[in-house]
Amino acid sequence: MKIAVLISGTGSNLKALIDAQKNREFKSEIVLVLSNKDAKGLEYAREAGISWAIIKTDEEMLQELESHSVDFIVLAGYLKKISSKILDKYENRIINIHPSLLPKYGGRGFYGLSVHEAVFKNKDRESGVTVHYVNEKVDGGEIILQEKIDISKCNSPVEIRDEVLKIEHSILKKAIAKIEEEI
Ligand code: GAR
Repeated sequence: MKIAVLISGTGSNLKALIDAQKNREFKSEIVLVLSNKDAKGLEYAREAGISWAIIKTDEEMLQELESHSVDFIVLAGYLKKISSKILDKYENRIINIHPSLLPKYGGRGFYGLSVHEAVFKNKDRESGVTVHYVNEKVDGGEIILQEKIDISKCNSPVEIRDEVLKIEHSILKKAIAKIEEEI
């Protein structure tokens, strides 16, 4: 598969995918990195020599995806909703990583640190990560992989985030390899 990775921020999940690609942990190739803003994570694309762009509209996104012959999209910390136009064109070919045990802490308003703040406030003893297909319902598509961790020793939302991020960095590449096996 020719993959586009979409980001909005730090890009640590993108970095983990680039490393996994170098180690041949999946067969697909990351051909494009897109961001809706001048994100720090774009630096990883530049370092790896992967094409990248900042896109502001659906038209720009589609144009980039088409000109790089992208056939699969990975949302790795992309915090904007994907439009119906893109969803229609890439039906069942877009996946997202979400830092909670969906369906818990999913949907509008739950993204990035806000997820971990809610988990911390509720005194949950475990949290985790979900990789799922993307459809019209925010965080509501079919689950591909989910992993749990014990967070009972975490003393803040940031500590929870850091623990969850560690498993994020291994689950996304596993999800890609799993999809490659299935197609
Ligand atoms: C990650 O924790 C990812 O799961 C989350 O944003 C963070 C991005 O980190 N995504 C969402 O909350 C999507 N709803 P990164 O830029 O370092 O990969």
